[in-house]
Amino acid sequence: MSHADETSGSRRDFLYYATAGAGAVAAGAAVWPLVNQMNPSADTRALASIFVDVSGVEVGTQLTVKWRGKPVFIRRRTPEEIDAGRAVALTDLVDTKSENANIAAEADASDTNRTLDEAGEWLVMMGVCTHLGCVPLGNAGDFGGWFCPCHGSHYDTAGRIRKGPAPRNLPVPVAKFEDDTTIKLG
Ligand code: FES
Repeated sequence: MSHADETSGSRRDFLYYATAGAGAVAAGAAVWPLVNQMNPSADTRALASIFVDVSGVEVGTQLTVKWRGKPVFIRRRTPEEIDAGRAVALTDLVDTKSENANIAAEADASDTNRTLDEAGEWLVMMGVCTHLGCVPLGNAGDFGGWFCPCHGSHYDTAGRIRKGPAPRNLPVPVAKFEDDTTIKLG
């Protein structure tokens, strides 16, 4: 191996490691807890609907499931989170649309139009930042909801964008309670 080859070899190595390093940072920002039994294999990924057992989801916690290749956040909100979400005036919102596939497209983004149940305990949303698609972190950000570390978007306790570059609220997918402890997505 000539000296020139060795040099280009180490340069390639250097570029490889530099790229791997950048990838690790991006992946770190997008890490989300995976519940194994909820992780559909490739052949079930194409299925339109999945059923999620939410009996083990405690108040104040979030279950993240993978659906159609994307994370879905299923959060059981605390009374404080519900109150905080309901106290927000529509005029304070960046995106005043509910972004909820289960109700009329023109419905406003009031807290009650975002949740699955009337009490406002269950919030189901795509866990995909509406800016460039990172996975926001829960229990984080200036509004006590979610924070996307990629470029600093803050979502409130109803998943509505409040600050940062993201243009829209986290979308609520087609979802409903099939029975007391099962949510059907799709
Ligand atoms: S992808 Fe979330 S802020 Fe840019």
